[in-house]
Amino acid sequence: ANETPFPYENLVVDIPDYPEPGVVFKDITPLIADERGFSACVDAMTQHFLGKGVTKVVGSEARGFLIGTPVAYRLGAGFVPARKPGKLPREVYTQSYALEYGTDELQIHKDALSPDDRVIIVDDLVATAGTALATAKLVEQSGAKILGFSFILELAFLNPREAIGKEYSQEVYSLI
Ligand code: HPA
Repeated sequence: ANETPFPYENLVVDIPDYPEPGVVFKDITPLIADERGFSACVDAMTQHFLGKGVTKVVGSEARGFLIGTPVAYRLGAGFVPARKPGKLPREVYTQSYALEYGTDELQIHKDALSPDDRVIIVDDLVATAGTALATAKLVEQSGAKILGFSFILELAFLNPREAIGKEYSQEVYSLI
C-alpha cells in the first residue's frame, strides 16, 4: 500500500550546545516515548531483516537495549547485551574502542553467541560508529555471522557508513 511514512524526524529534538558548546545533540527519547512512533520505529527497523533468519540481536549499553530488545522480539530472535566492563557475571569477550577522549570497553558473555548464530547489531544512533564497530568485533570473536546493522538515526556528517564499510560489507540500515 502507498501509505504516508511516519514522520519520525518530527519527534527527534535538536538540543543546541549539548553536552558541550557547538554540538547539536539529537534527542530520540520523544520518538520512543510516542506510542505510534515507537512501534513505527521497531517495524521499520525490522522490516528489512524479516525472513532473513536472524537468530540474535546484539545491542550495546544503554540505549541499544531500548531499541534492540523490541527489534529482537519482533524478529523472533534472542537479545544479547553488549555491556560496559564488570557488569556481566560470567566469562566474557572484551573489545576496546576509542572515545573522543580515551578508550572504553564493551563485553558480551562468551556463551551468548555461537558460530551458528545470525546476528544484527542495533542501536538508537550511529555517530562515528565506534560503538557499532566494537560490537561487531565482539560478535566476530564468537564466530557468529553478522547480517547487518540497524539504527534509528545516522549522523551522516560524521560518516559512520564509510567507517563501517571499511571493515564490513553488510547492510547498514538507518531510519533517519
Ligand atoms: N545524540 C545522541 N547521542 C549521540 C549524539 C547525538 O547527537 N552524538 C553522539 N552520540
